[in-house]
Amino acid sequence: MDFLCFLFLLPLCKSIEVIVPDAPVTGTLDKDVILPCSFTPPDGFSLQDLSVFWEITKLQQVHAFTQGQEQLEKQDPQYINRTQLFYGELLKGNMSLLLRKVSLSDEGIYTCFVNVRNSSSAAVSLQVAASYTKPTLQLKSSETLKLGDQVTITCHTYRGYPQAEILWQDASGRNLTENITTSQVANEEGLFHVQSSICVTLETNDTYTCLVYNPILQELTHASLSVTGQHLSFPMVAVWVTVGLCACLLGLFIALACVCRKHLKQTCEEEQEEGVNEEQEENGELKTAMQPLKASEAEGEETSNLE
Ligand SMILES: *[C@@H]1O[C@H](CO)[C@@H](O)[C@H](O)[C@H]1NC(C)=O
Ligand SMILES: *[C@@H]1O[C@H](CO)[C@@H](O)[C@H](O)[C@H]1NC(C)=O
Ligand SMILES: *[C@@H]1O[C@H](CO)[C@@H](O)[C@H](O)[C@H]1NC(C)=O
Ligand SMILES: *[C@@H]1O[C@H](CO)[C@@H](O)[C@H](O)[C@H]1NC(C)=O
Ligand SMILES: *[C@@H]1O[C@H](CO)[C@@H](O)[C@H](O)[C@H]1NC(C)=O
Ligand SMILES: *[C@@H]1O[C@H](CO)[C@@H](O)[C@H](O)[C@H]1NC(C)=O
Repeated sequence: MDFLCFLFLLPLCKSIEVIVPDAPVTGTLDKDVILPCSFTPPDGFSLQDLSVFWEITKLQQVHAFTQGQEQLEKQDPQYINRTQLFYGELLKGNMSLLLRKVSLSDEGIYTCFVNVRNSSSAAVSLQVAASYTKPTLQLKSSETLKLGDQVTITCHTYRGYPQAEILWQDASGRNLTENITTSQVANEEGLFHVQSSICVTLETNDTYTCLVYNPILQELTHASLSVTGQHLSFPMVAVWVTVGLCACLLGLFIALACVCRKHLKQTCEEEQEEGVNEEQEENGELKTAMQPLKASEAEGEETSNLE
């Protein structure tokens, strides 16, 4: 064969150069992706001469095309109804594979084999990515919140892939990433729930921004939380001081009231005997007070009588 090639069929037997992208191909979760793969077709080549195999490992066949038609009997179940070659492109040497509705388990290195009398192959890597949700921020508030307190702000973002890069900034854009605690936990689907906490000292006015970066999609999403005076509750120390003072004052009043009552009781008992006289005197005073009235009345009567 080598000899025949060398003598008569040189154009057909040249080693085939398969071209694939160097960089990994990014597939977005649940979207379709094209895995590029091509070769320069030799002159006078027909589809009958062509065999194309896409494999993810030696055991998992993704797609196969031989002798002018698809051969999907050995296709891995994961890829059933999800793969497609571009028939119009095959004669141009384009063996790119369309993979529909990408899932995280599709991630890996795909090998594209081509055989046109001679064979060759190349590998293309598929990186799957999923966008993170816009983060939500929470201020872990406690009753004792006041200026100068250390408080924890937590940032949550969900269903992203791969792991996120988390950055924190204050209103002036200062990088606060130094003092954060971040955990990234994969759910049953393999998507990450990212939780990042920052401990800050409360000032009258500050804005904290949590930035979530997906390095594969090169997507940045962020959210901010403003901590203003309004978020600060009345300081607990002041509450206790006030309560304490009130209690002291109340105690003082009660004590005073007791003393007063005791004193009043004593004076009352002492003055009980004199009390009758006082009443009489009072009555007397009343009478005496009324007497001039009567007198005046009498005078009036008298005057009227005089008229
Ligand atoms: C196939 O290509 C290889 C180089 O990749 C070459 O060494 C070999 O001779 C070729 N085979 C045929 C049958 O032409
Ligand atoms: C693939 O598609 C065919 C026809 O649309 C359908 O009958 C079959 O159930 C599908 N198979 C899978 C595994 O989805
Ligand atoms: C191969 O075909 C696909 C689908 O039409 C296209 O996106 C891609 O650019 C083609 N590649 C080359 C090298 O022509
Ligand atoms: C990180 O925490 C240390 C100690 O609490 C503090 O001195 C430093 O300023 C903090 N860094 C930032 C960027 O806030
Ligand atoms: C912020 O600080 C962190 C940790 O100190 C560092 O890894 C990161 O590159 C910094 N980011 C920017 C934008 O300065
Ligand atoms: C806090 O911010 C608000 C609005 O951003 C501003 O009106 C107010 O003056 C600020 N207060 C202080 C103490 O900086």
